[in-house]
Amino acid sequence: MCGIVAYIGPKDATPFLLEGLARLEYRGYDSAGVAVAGRTGGIKVRKVKGRVADLAAAVPARFKGGTGIGHTRWATHGVPSDANAHPHQDNAERIAVVHNGIIENADELRARLTAEGAVFRSETDTEVLAHLIAAHATEGVELEEAVRAALGKVVGTYGIAVLDAEQPDRIVVARNGSPIVLGIGEKEMFAASDVSALVRYTRQVVHLEDGELATVRADGFRTSTEDARTTHRQPSTVDWEIDSYDTGGYEHFLLKEIHEQPGSVERTLSGRLDERFATAHLGGLNLDARELREIRRVKILGCGSAYYAGEMGAQLIEELARIPAHSEPASEFRYRNPVIEADTLYIAVSQSGETYDTLAAVQEVKRKGGRVLGVVNTVGSAIARECDGGIYLHAGPEISVASTKAFTSTVIAFALLALHFGRIHDLSPADGRRIVAALKALPDQIREVLAQSDAIAGLAAEYADSEGMMFIGRVRGYPVAREGAQKLKEISYVHAEAYPASELKHGPLALISPELPTVALVPDDELLDKNLTTLGEIKARSGRVLAVAHRAPEAKLADHCILVPKSEPELDPLLLNIPLQLLAYHAAVALKRDVDKPRNLAKSVTVE
Ligand code: F6R
Repeated sequence: MCGIVAYIGPKDATPFLLEGLARLEYRGYDSAGVAVAGRTGGIKVRKVKGRVADLAAAVPARFKGGTGIGHTRWATHGVPSDANAHPHQDNAERIAVVHNGIIENADELRARLTAEGAVFRSETDTEVLAHLIAAHATEGVELEEAVRAALGKVVGTYGIAVLDAEQPDRIVVARNGSPIVLGIGEKEMFAASDVSALVRYTRQVVHLEDGELATVRADGFRTSTEDARTTHRQPSTVDWEIDSYDTGGYEHFLLKEIHEQPGSVERTLSGRLDERFATAHLGGLNLDARELREIRRVKILGCGSAYYAGEMGAQLIEELARIPAHSEPASEFRYRNPVIEADTLYIAVSQSGETYDTLAAVQEVKRKGGRVLGVVNTVGSAIARECDGGIYLHAGPEISVASTKAFTSTVIAFALLALHFGRIHDLSPADGRRIVAALKALPDQIREVLAQSDAIAGLAAEYADSEGMMFIGRVRGYPVAREGAQKLKEISYVHAEAYPASELKHGPLALISPELPTVALVPDDELLDKNLTTLGEIKARSGRVLAVAHRAPEAKLADHCILVPKSEPELDPLLLNIPLQLLAYHAAVALKRDVDKPRNLAKSVTVE
């Protein structure tokens, strides 16, 4: 998704802008651009379709200025092209704007501005903002006022950064539904849509709220609301490590993040297990035991992999706490006028904390008086701030577009929540101890799976050129199958379909053939015999089977098998998922895909 960077200070802005944009590449984009207000007056702009490296090559040595903005664009209005890349300018080239989000009334504004004499040079909704701000930037008007007046005419979502050739001592930024974070340096200031662009330069940040604007100068910033009331924002400190933003010797961020999981799981668990009472402590829930006992149902909301992690979470909560729990795509929930019940606990799941559909679902629940917890990785993100309490994952930044370590940490967070809930309800101390011990064993068990990476690469190469793949699992295994299919589709572009193993004979068995292999989750649990029968049915139709299992099925039932260490049955899904991450990764590599930046996808989807 689009990215924004901005710099103001004594140094030349361009190197920061280009580096910041490179740090945002992981979010997915199709074009990039920069603008600087030169010390000699005027604004210089360079923008290209393609990569940040192409932009850097197009920027001449004389492209200098102490104030600048930059952007990576993910096309929404208009094809990827040089002209549609940001920054956009008004006809007098006084104003330059970069924008994330969507201006919904762009057509209407464009018609009105055209009638007033504006000549549009792109197909984007963003260009409307440049002309609109310029129209308000009359003699003696501060840039912030011109931006505020322009935004007053706009319907839609935005994170913007604005440069004015006549007021080069400032940048104005604003947020409504699309994140903007300020970075505080030594006599210099930064802004970006994502802290990853800033962490090399500063750890002191301020997240703007929706409806807030800021005038940023080299020596500080001032924030205010849409109706010009001053706001007071305290900086917070980012604790993510800089090396999280490098591949650290791995070929791809995705492989690095898969291998980071023993450590990220340890961080999610850290300080939260209580062996004495065989439970978990979760400081941020803001709900005491009495309030938790009153909860009759749990509804989990997330998108994509966050939704599948929520399905595993629902299973954990039902099994350990015996509270009915259900996961639903936040993107559907928000549009169906959901019934909000007072005794239901709503839980929003999001790695980025910025997914627009999930944020909108949270807002819908809150508007109707419901209580929402967040299970979020990014501290201070919009969803984290909107929720009444929650659990931070502490998985560290996830750079690759496909979610792996955040997915696993989300399931761990749900296991902790389910344990906590369970011990408040009827989960026995013995069962509590069983889960605590199993959670503590997970990092080493994940290491055991990761050690099979080379063997899984061999299998991936063998299966990668299939016309598609079926993923099947029963009950606890079904969300694993869904997430496994999702990962394979996303990064290898191999079609993959997930089905409950029990449903195979109700339809999809017709598809089974040597060309459509099946990945089967076969845990050693009470459903083992049923799963083995299903494998027999597939083999009887000449289907190839790759089993992910605790014990290898007989050779006649599976062509290949990946063995996974056994945890407790409730936690097995988490471990069964890890080889599927590696399978998807190695299949994508075998097919020479752009692993960390799969086509058409963005790391955080901040638009509807
Ligand atoms: C899958 C993936 C997406 C995200 C989804 C939600 O690998 O990355 O399906 O899980 O877009 O993103 P967050 O968790 O940031 O809300």
